[in-house]
Order: sequence, then C-alpha cells, then structure tokens
Amino acid sequence: MKLFRPVLWALVTALVADTYSLSPPQQTCVIPALKDDRDDAPAIRQAFSKCGNNGKVAFKKNTKYSIQTVLQLHNLKNVQVDMFGTLEYSTDVRYWILHGSYYYFQNISIAMEFSGEDITIDGYGSGTIDGQGQVWHDLALGVGGLYGRPIPFCLRNVKNAVAKNFEILQSGKWNFLMVEFQNILVDNITLSSTSDDFQANPGNLGNTDGFDTINSNNITIQNIWADVGDDCVSFKPGSTNIHVKNLTCYNSAGIAIGSLGQYEGVRDVVENITAEDVSLYGSRNGAYIKTYAGKRFYWPPQGGGNGYVRNVVFKNFHIENITASPVLIQQCTHWAGYNVPACADTPPTGFFSNISWYNFTGYMNEKVGTKAVSWTCSPLATCEGFSFKDINIKSATGANGTYSCTNVDGYDVTCEKTK
Ligand SMILES: *[C@@H]1O[C@H](CO)[C@@H](O)[C@H](O)[C@H]1NC(C)=O
Ligand SMILES: *[C@@H]1O[C@H](CO)[C@@H](O)[C@H](O)[C@H]1NC(C)=O
Ligand SMILES: *[C@@H]1O[C@H](CO)[C@@H](O)[C@H](O)[C@H]1NC(C)=O
Ligand SMILES: *[C@@H]1O[C@H](CO)[C@@H](O)[C@H](O)[C@H]1NC(C)=O
Ligand SMILES: *[C@@H]1O[C@H](CO)[C@@H](O)[C@H](O)[C@H]1NC(C)=O
Ligand SMILES: *[C@@H]1O[C@H](CO)[C@@H](O)[C@H](O)[C@H]1NC(C)=O
Ligand SMILES: *[C@@H]1O[C@H](CO)[C@@H](O)[C@H](O)[C@H]1NC(C)=O
Ligand SMILES: *[C@@H]1O[C@H](CO)[C@@H](O)[C@H](O)[C@H]1NC(C)=O
Ligand SMILES: *[C@@H]1O[C@H](CO)[C@@H](O)[C@H](O)[C@H]1NC(C)=O
Repeated sequence: MKLFRPVLWALVTALVADTYSLSPPQQTCVIPALKDDRDDAPAIRQAFSKCGNNGKVAFKKNTKYSIQTVLQLHNLKNVQVDMFGTLEYSTDVRYWILHGSYYYFQNISIAMEFSGEDITIDGYGSGTIDGQGQVWHDLALGVGGLYGRPIPFCLRNVKNAVAKNFEILQSGKWNFLMVEFQNILVDNITLSSTSDDFQANPGNLGNTDGFDTINSNNITIQNIWADVGDDCVSFKPGSTNIHVKNLTCYNSAGIAIGSLGQYEGVRDVVENITAEDVSLYGSRNGAYIKTYAGKRFYWPPQGGGNGYVRNVVFKNFHIENITASPVLIQQCTHWAGYNVPACADTPPTGFFSNISWYNFTGYMNEKVGTKAVSWTCSPLATCEGFSFKDINIKSATGANGTYSCTNVDGYDVTCEKTK
C-alpha cells in the first residue's frame, strides 16, 4: 500500500494542475502614457481589447492620461480595471460634439463607456477622471440640453459591475451614467463640478447631475460625496430596484425621480426606489418627483408622455439652506425652450402610488417661503398612497415649515388627512 502512495499523489497533482491549466492565465495590461499632450486613448483601447476578457487593465499611479478621442470599451468580460492616475479629457468641443457616443434619450453624448459583463473598476482612492468642464459651461451658458456635452463616465449595456473609490472632477454634463444596466454596486465615489463664474451665472451648471440611471435594474449607490450643479441622483425612466445610502451633496438640485413623460405617448416607469441617509447642503430641492407637461411642445420637444412611479421611500434626510421644497412633487418641468404652455393648460397625466418621505431635519434658505411639503399633483394624475412623517424643516427664521397638497388622494390642501 505504502508503495502506491507517491504514485497516487503524482496522479492527483497532475489532475489538479490540469484543471487549473484549463482556465486561461489572467493577463494584465498596464497602459503606457504618452508625453507631450498626445492622445492616450489608442493605448487604452488596445489594452482593453487585449486584456478585456478574463484579464486586468491597469492605469499607472501618478500618471496623467490625455483622452482626446471617444472611448467605447465594449464586449468586456470578467475584467478588473485598476484605475490609478488621472484621465483628463481634451477641451476640443468641436471634436466631442461630433464624435461622442450617442444614446437616444435626450440625445446624450458619452465620452467614455464600458459595456459587457462582470466589470470591476477600482480607483483605490486615487483614480481621477477630469472632464475639464469649464469649456462646456462657457459654451452652454446654462442651456442644459446643448447637443454634444460629453458624459465622462458611463456603464452601458452591462451586467454585473462594481465601480468604486474614484473621483470625477469638472464634468461637462452629467457625471456618472448607468444605462441598460443590471446589477451594479457604486461605492465611495467623489464628484465635484463647479464653474468659475457660478456666482455671475448660477444657471451655468445646468445638467451637471451626479448619478443618472436610465432603463436599469438593481443598483446600489453608497458612500458618496458630491458637489454638483444639478440633481445629485436622478432616477430617470426605466429605473427599478435601486438603493441609495449615505450621500452628501452640496449645491445640487436634490434627489430626483424624473423627469418623466418627456416623450409623447411613452409610459415611463420608475419602481422600488429607496434613498436614505442623505445630507443636502445649499440644495435647490430635497427628495422630489418631476414630470413634463401633458402635451408635447417645442423646442426641444418635450412633454406628452406618461409617468408611472411606485414603491418609493425617502428617509433620514438632513437638509440645510434649501431654496425650494424638501418634499416635492413638481409638474410641468421643462428645459429652456420656446412656446412653453401654461401648466394649467397642459396638465400631465400619470400614476403615482406608495411614496413616502420620513424623518427630514434642517432649515430653508431665507429667500424662500416656508413650504416644507409641496405635493402638487395634476388633476389628470393619480396620486395615492402618499405619506410623510417627521418632516422637521424650519424656515430660515426658525418657524415650522408649512404643508400644501393639491389633488393628492386622502389629503386636503393643508395636507391634513381626510381619510
Ligand atoms: C434629438 O435629435 C433629433 C435629431 O437631431 C431632434 O429631432 C430631436 O429634436 C432631438 N431631441 C431632443 C430631446 O433634443
Ligand atoms: C474612498 O475614497 C477616498 C477618497 O477618494 C479614499 O481616500 C479612500 O481610500 C477610499 N476608500 C477605499 C476603501 O479605497
Ligand atoms: C443585485 O446586484 C447585486 C450586486 O450589486 C448582486 O449581488 C445581486 O445578486 C443582484 N440581485 C439580483 C436579484 O440579481
Ligand atoms: C459615508 O460616506 C462617506 C464618504 O462620503 C464616508 O467617509 C463615511 O464613512 C460613510 N459613512 C458610513 C456610515 O458608512
Ligand atoms: C418591486 O418590488 C416588488 C416587491 O418586492 C416586486 O414584487 C416587484 O417585482 C418589483 N418590481 C420590479 C420592476 O422589479
Ligand atoms: C410600498 O413600497 C415599499 C418600499 O418599496 C414596499 O416595501 C412596500 O411593500 C410597498 N407596499 C405596497 C402595498 O406595495
Ligand atoms: C433621522 O435622520 C438622521 C439623519 O438625518 C439620523 O441621524 C437619525 O438617526 C434618524 N432618526 C431615526 C429615528 O431614524
Ligand atoms: C444659504 O445660501 C445662501 C445662498 O443662497 C448664502 O448666501 C447663505 O450664506 C447660506 N446660509 C447659510 C446659513 O448657510
Ligand atoms: C412646531 O412643530 C412642532 C412639532 O414638530 C410642535 O411641537 C410645535 O408646537 C410647532 N410650533 C409652532 C409654533 O407651531
């Protein structure tokens, strides 16, 4: 028996070794950076095409990569991206307007997109994407929808991803976009987009949202610090099963569902959303839902669609110096445009149910009224199963916030329960 042991062992090790050799060795591609401001995008593309399947792609520490051409990093599978260094976009607005990756929703334009399966992007607390947004703010001058403003980071058509520990600075438009997506964890991300002349042109940061989700399911967004000029997080049409936790946002427009109903005849669905432990400083709104007008008008075309929102919880919000209502249903939002009809003439349609706001503390900006709760539903919409509790937002002078409700099932105009 003893004699056979070494033979058996050899057999076992041979089998094990064979099993391991069946899976290909993990390849690593370290991306070189060119000097003299030359375009590093070709090397990035090459690294992803070589190591983007069962491999690792690494940006180098303390290294600046200049990105002058659009990145479409597609067909990735089981890839680890070590995003050290700084990825800096060029400021050639003409190039980006002509060449950004197109997505039909609001004709958006994307500068860098990842797609595929099982993608982990880790910046280890030092990775940075610099959108060099000032050039876009100066060009757009507050026109949020100006065509071609590039989105610096997008996960598009992806199944299973983790994006963590990096920052995005000076985005020219929305910062971090998720479209056609399933299963993602977004963790420990810092966003900062400011404009040199923000005081003179406060509209100048229009559309620099923090996180946007479109047609995406099962997302967790947590441990975020952001200073952005528009919605900190916006759940756009097709967003389902999303959990947001531990966010601090400065100067944003708050946490938004919508805008819904932009496209004529289209029914936009947002379902199962929880946002909790959120601090908002100097925000325009708090936690809100916004819909376009009930009829389409020009220009750009907007309104005439449908909204359907249900199962939403906003809880544990701390809000300081907010300039509009912390608890808000907003109807007939629109972009700067022509022929904007009066909301009363084009009330939106829609269905909103089981939506709650709990435990809000803080105070309002001195320049605004005292409406802590403003639920303005359209006469043509269903607003049912709404609730709020422990909304302790004071006016700037310390008075209790007031409540107003219009067309909300179960509430009178002062938001007293009627049933
Ligand atoms: C998108 O672009 C198309 C074609 O250029 C244009 O007709 C349409 O009005 C644009 N839509 C929006 C929402 O800007
Ligand atoms: C989270 O991000 C911060 C700032 O980017 C960084 O200092 C920290 O190391 C990150 N945490 C981890 C676990 O990487
Ligand atoms: C949702 O995504 C997470 C990763 O963030 C994953 O662990 C989980 O299995 C997914 N849930 C479903 C139902 O697919
Ligand atoms: C919340 O997120 C911040 C990053 O913005 C982090 O520093 C902090 O530790 C997180 N808090 C908890 C309770 O996880
Ligand atoms: C929303 O959550 C409910 C209850 O957990 C579930 O039955 C439903 O399928 C979810 N909706 C979507 C679109 O996933
Ligand atoms: C209301 O929404 C919450 C949060 O998504 C969910 O847990 C609950 O099951 C929903 N209630 C109904 C009646 O659908
Ligand atoms: C209310 O929210 C605050 C954060 O804004 C949190 O610290 C506190 O624990 C919450 N209270 C309850 C009862 O959950
Ligand atoms: C509130 O915001 C305004 C700008 O809208 C600013 O001037 C003021 O100092 C802020 N107040 C506090 C208490 O932060
Ligand atoms: C303000 O609201 C608190 C409860 O949140 C209540 O105890 C207090 O009486 C109110 N103050 C006034 C002046 O109505």
